[in-house]
Amino acid sequence: MANYLAMGKEELLEEKKKLEEIYAGYLARNLKLDMSRGKPCKEQLDLSIDMLTMDPADYISETGLDSRNYGCLEGMPEARRLFAEIMGVRPEEVMVGGNSSLNLMFDVISMGCRNGFPESSQPWGRGCKFICPAPGYDRHFRVTEYFGFELLTVKMLETGPDMDAVEELVKDPAVKGIWCVPTYSNPDGYCYSDETVRRLAAMEPAAKDFKIFWDDAYVVHFFGDEPDRVLNILNECRRCGNENRPVMFCSTSKITFPGAGVSSLAASSEMLEYILHNMFPMTISFDKMNQMRHVRYLKNLDGVLAHMEKHKRVIKPKFSVVLHELDDQLLPCGDIAHWTRPRGGYFISLYVMPGCAKRTVDLCKDAGVVLTGAGAAYPYGVDPEDSNIRIAPTFPPVDELKIAAELLCVAARLSTVEKLLAQ
Ligand SMILES: Cc1ncc(COP(=O)(O)O)c(C=O)c1O
Repeated sequence: MANYLAMGKEELLEEKKKLEEIYAGYLARNLKLDMSRGKPCKEQLDLSIDMLTMDPADYISETGLDSRNYGCLEGMPEARRLFAEIMGVRPEEVMVGGNSSLNLMFDVISMGCRNGFPESSQPWGRGCKFICPAPGYDRHFRVTEYFGFELLTVKMLETGPDMDAVEELVKDPAVKGIWCVPTYSNPDGYCYSDETVRRLAAMEPAAKDFKIFWDDAYVVHFFGDEPDRVLNILNECRRCGNENRPVMFCSTSKITFPGAGVSSLAASSEMLEYILHNMFPMTISFDKMNQMRHVRYLKNLDGVLAHMEKHKRVIKPKFSVVLHELDDQLLPCGDIAHWTRPRGGYFISLYVMPGCAKRTVDLCKDAGVVLTGAGAAYPYGVDPEDSNIRIAPTFPPVDELKIAAELLCVAARLSTVEKLLAQ
């Protein structure tokens, strides 16, 4: 292998022929591998299975409250305490919900659209806009698209969203909020810097009812040597007199069971009261038995961190396999691609040469390896550069992952050579 960018036409044609032969070998293998979504693997799911064994007495709170019955919309006291520790806030600032934090985010956005928030002069409505740091989580963008917001893309940097762009955009009173994944962002695995958090807390949006949707989905999901700690947005906002600005979210979806975990939300007392008031007509209470199962099993933050160590042992080798393959196959080709080296979270972001992401993903798909669709991590599903590919290494077994990563690199190289020849 040599630097593609230094190759002449003849050399590129020769490389193309070689890559096509290798690719044909993958086609003949009839692969059937899925790396499209960030899902825990079976081994990870097995880690939490003991949680389902409970003594009937375990369902009763220390306060005497019976989790098996209706009531207690804000969640079981023990569960509020557990999530308060995870999010670094006070238990009275926390409500504990059902099986999905995305569902809570949807509900809070929906609340803004129906009724607005304590600072609103009218409900969020037609013509409202939302800031989407990209690449980001496709489902966030989908929620705000569904409610009719115009999605405004800002670039996701290693330090978090491009704050110069954010500060400029919030001068428009129609801009009502921003999506944030502050710790091990989806898909880059970046952590917000202290400066980014402080600027988000201190900025002065024209919309008085501007909200930060602080989705800390990966707050405890580190597999590096030391956990990264992002500044607490609620404390920072409070310091600036903007304590109603953030709504924090997290869940145990990737701690215990996706779709059968527990979600949580934290906000200032005034915001929390407002949110609970607006949830009251929606449900009598969430699944508190599941909340108690989680509390009994995970106990406290130390218990959660000990459990995450077990996940780390399963998934760290998987990230290493992919990174090793990218280093091995793509680095020698010159500056044709770059990729992130996350210390936590669920994804690696691969950036291929502009114009090559869709072709790379299609080549993989034709050979039986399904990746997240190119562009999925951008508002409206369109990556303006057609460069980003989200790699989700956790689900496949290591041997399959290695094959998938090898194929991905061959596809990335082939699409790059095709592009260079077309130029
Ligand atoms: C950033 C982010 N937030 C939320 C979710 C979904 O969370 P939940 O299962 O709690 O709805 C995901 C799942 O991939 C995610 O990546």
